[in-house]
Amino acid sequence: MAKEVFVCPEESAFYAQCLHMLLIGHCQTASVIHEFGSGDGMPVIEAVLRACFQGVIHGYEINDVSWNLANNQIKLHQIEHRYIVHNASFFNFCNKPYSSTLVTNPPYLPAWNDNCLYIKGLYGGIDGSMISRRLLSLEYSTVLLMVSSFSNPAGLLQFASEQGYSVVDFLIRPLSFGRYSSQPEVKSRIVELYHEQKAFFSEHYYLLAGVVFQKQNHADMELSADLIAVMQSLQ
Ligand SMILES: C[S@@+](CC[C@H](N)C(=O)[O-])C[C@H]1O[C@@H](n2cnc3c(N)ncnc32)[C@H](O)[C@@H]1O
Repeated sequence: MAKEVFVCPEESAFYAQCLHMLLIGHCQTASVIHEFGSGDGMPVIEAVLRACFQGVIHGYEINDVSWNLANNQIKLHQIEHRYIVHNASFFNFCNKPYSSTLVTNPPYLPAWNDNCLYIKGLYGGIDGSMISRRLLSLEYSTVLLMVSSFSNPAGLLQFASEQGYSVVDFLIRPLSFGRYSSQPEVKSRIVELYHEQKAFFSEHYYLLAGVVFQKQNHADMELSADLIAVMQSLQ
């Protein structure tokens, strides 16, 4: 059973801001939203409390300790009717989506394997984009995905485009390398990706973007090009 929980207040607060500004703040009609990897639940709770969101968010979290924390916070804030977190792997329940919208701050740490990580649940495959790609393969019509500048962002956006997604909005900010991204095995993999033009960062920080993807018949990749241009400016 995983004991250590994801703690990165700066990153979680930005995810909450993206949820509010890019999605939930506009969602005044009742809708069902799925969330991959709820953590302690606070990003969604903050976003829901700030908005007049009338729907229900079903979160999935594999880490038992995080799931307990999320449930305690949901009860404390009395939003059990708006946010339900299930202690299960997302992929066991949501391979065929019964909702049209998916939100997530996914695992995006690149490394050659997950053995070295403080928290295995933060492993994003050898280039950091493995879970994000899997999530973009599930046919949700709208996906709010946090995208890191060191996890092969251009490759991920190309993959999204091949799945029929366009980037319709994004927010981006610098984040300091923290406990998880500074682990030597992760940092050395990020440097390898930099040499392959798949990671963009400066000495102390990288960029994290909250990106809204939408399935569209007419691909309009203008925003996608803008997003990559901002990330590549860190080279
Ligand atoms: C980067 S953390 C984000 C946590 C929280 N959403 C936040 O932003 O503060 C990713 C979370 O995904 C969870 N996770 C990893 N694989 C999962 C899976 N297959 N199903 C559900 N949750 C998963 C991890 O345990 C971790 O809590």
